[in-house]
Amino acid sequence: MTVHIDIDAPLTERILKLKKERNAVILAHNYQLGEVQDIADFVGDSLELSQNAAKTKADVIVFCGVHFMAETASILNPDKTVLLPDQHAGCPMANMINARQLREEKKKFPKATTVCYINTTAEVKAESDICCTSANGVKVVESIPNNEIIFVPDQYLGHFISTKTRKTMHLWPGYCPTHARIRAEDITRLRSEYPNAKAVVHPECRPEVIAMADEVLSTGGIIRYARREDVKELIVGTELGIIHRLRKENPGKRFIPVTEQAVCPNMKLITLEKVLWSLEEMAPLVKVAESIRVKAKAAVDKMLAIV
Ligand code: 13P
Ligand code: SF4
Repeated sequence: MTVHIDIDAPLTERILKLKKERNAVILAHNYQLGEVQDIADFVGDSLELSQNAAKTKADVIVFCGVHFMAETASILNPDKTVLLPDQHAGCPMANMINARQLREEKKKFPKATTVCYINTTAEVKAESDICCTSANGVKVVESIPNNEIIFVPDQYLGHFISTKTRKTMHLWPGYCPTHARIRAEDITRLRSEYPNAKAVVHPECRPEVIAMADEVLSTGGIIRYARREDVKELIVGTELGIIHRLRKENPGKRFIPVTEQAVCPNMKLITLEKVLWSLEEMAPLVKVAESIRVKAKAAVDKMLAIV
């Protein structure tokens, strides 16, 4: 197909025109830059984005997020073109375990069922029995008949789930470097500054931070919680990018980030320019080898079937 581009037109106009010509859909995570969220067809958390990717009719998915998210879209859609506008947008936590390490862990606990957080590579998903996200971790673990679970790679999400279930959980020592910057002392200080505020945190936060929150929610859960009529001021313990959507959707309410330091540098690699270039060049592509994809899809499908 010949694509006609007016290089003097504003960036967003060029993206929207090209998106139409390519029959593309733009999916963006809640941590993306505001300007990227604003041109997306859908903005959400990892679960909502996977569900959206699973049912899209578009030929091309431009994934504005990090590598494992685009990979999950590709796992679910082997015949579609999946673009990640910056190929260096990875998730350091997802890279804290590889397939060989998981195979070793499974040898240590041969009777356990393996649950992987969606923040994992396709190879690790392929070695796992079922996948979960921050929105459904407790539900996924509770759905498993086995009482012994290996949980990878996020020790803090794993610990949070373990407080909600009676199952024995073997936790891999991974963590999110961005959420590790969120400190309990900051919440204590903000609670005294804003005595009427509620506090929500993401389950990737440390246990002592989780202990201080009114609610522990995925990013999509935080977005829904903020819409509640009784929530007027909200202390938010997660990556800073979510504040854009919270303020945009809830004018008149006050959103207070626990720390301005909780910025995921990988999420911020995606810019409007890179979205345009990826649509122009149909690159960088994310594609999973078929032998891995089929096994990884089984773990993702099992999750999607129970939520
Ligand atoms: P959510 O699925 O809650 O959006 O979290 C994704 C993530 O990477 C959190 O750091
Ligand atoms: Fe990975 Fe943390 Fe960034 Fe989420 S915020 S993508 S878990 S590094």
